[in-house]
Amino acid sequence: MASFREPPPRPFLKWVGGKRQLLPELLEAVDSSGPFRHYHEPFLGGGALFFSLARIGRIRARSYLSDANANLMDAYLGVRDEAENVIALLEGHRKVHSETHFYAVRASVPDTLAERAARIIYLNRTCYNGLYRENSKGQFNAPFGRYKNPLICDQENLRAVSQTLQNVDLGARDFAHVLQTAKPGDLVYFDPPYNPTSKTADFTAYCPGGFGADAQQRLAETCKALATRGVKVVLSNSMTEVTRTLYEDDFYTYGVTASRHVNSRADRRGKVSEALITSFPMRAEQPPSDQRRVPTHRQVHPHANAGSPAQPSGVLQRRPARQWLLDNHYQDVAALIDEITREWKLAGKQTRRNWWQILAGDTKGNSRVVEGRSFPVLRAAQLRMGVPVTPDAICRNPREEVPPVTVTGRWRKRA
Ligand SMILES: C[S@@+](CC[C@H](N)C(=O)[O-])C[C@H]1O[C@@H](n2cnc3c(N)ncnc32)[C@H](O)[C@@H]1O
Repeated sequence: MASFREPPPRPFLKWVGGKRQLLPELLEAVDSSGPFRHYHEPFLGGGALFFSLARIGRIRARSYLSDANANLMDAYLGVRDEAENVIALLEGHRKVHSETHFYAVRASVPDTLAERAARIIYLNRTCYNGLYRENSKGQFNAPFGRYKNPLICDQENLRAVSQTLQNVDLGARDFAHVLQTAKPGDLVYFDPPYNPTSKTADFTAYCPGGFGADAQQRLAETCKALATRGVKVVLSNSMTEVTRTLYEDDFYTYGVTASRHVNSRADRRGKVSEALITSFPMRAEQPPSDQRRVPTHRQVHPHANAGSPAQPSGVLQRRPARQWLLDNHYQDVAALIDEITREWKLAGKQTRRNWWQILAGDTKGNSRVVEGRSFPVLRAAQLRMGVPVTPDAICRNPREEVPPVTVTGRWRKRA
């Protein structure tokens, strides 16, 4: 089965910690924030949320995208300002792609922006696992990946990305620079290297220097300073005691589960808890608009909650696609899912799929096939996944609602 790809513009680099799995919850958080003016993303990586917002028309003013990794930002700058040169150079790499060529490009230090951008994109597309790794000298050091047919030059997407980036301020800088650009009414999404959940689960070495406890502390202070000035803040991190301690008194804190595929050992991949932290409540728990208290800077001021209970917190639950299908006249589709999962169970397989993604169809709105069965393309699934609705997408229940992410339970308060 072809893997799911969103329509352009979509991330053009594979990035460790990419947020595709968490997109429904992040989009829900952005929706809950209400209208915003400028969008800021200071830990850009592959930019999954930015491109998703651009696709659904939520980016209306100039955006500010940055990352401390200068090689990464060169790739963005090159695609924004010299897309055609980058495409031509990538086509050149594609024609002579081999292990020897990969290592020659890896060792090279190009002079021009277009060459630097094409180098990073080429290496990212062809290296082992698409993992961007640098050594202590800031040199890319991931080994060659043995892919049959890597997509080295995705011309259509690079042009769409270039177009989208025209009204974007790009820079290689530390996240705290956002304090100089973000104004009241703007939205900032922080996706920092995560607090390690264990001593061996530290994926924070994107940049020389890493991202340790003092950087996490500095980040929490930056978030508080922004919220205090009326900037809307969304942050994702691992759900650890450290994260909780840093944010729970001043922010809304939610737990969420997401699949991660970073670990090279298959037995260590799987579901891990993540934290989603916002300076406003998620829509699912907001009171009706006539009773809504708009959070003011006083409510998120570091000392405003001292001695008072933590702000509302909860667990974001993914609504199982199967139940929604049963509630909205798609019994046949739910039965198809049951059939396939039963087969997997009988075969002793642990396979899990994001059925919303399957039901959203492929980039052209064609059905996707799982275990030889073709799935219909549903309008609600496309809306839920934040991809454009295609003309033939099915909607059987005119009153059906796009299944929201729901909030349940409470995040246990520290003793
Ligand atoms: C979890 S990744 C972001 C992933 C991204 N949201 C995506 O969808 O691909 C974290 C990013 O933070 C960057 N980073 C590390 N330290 C930083 C700092 N002090 N300031 C800004 N960015 C930093 C890394 O280079 C890395 O790209």
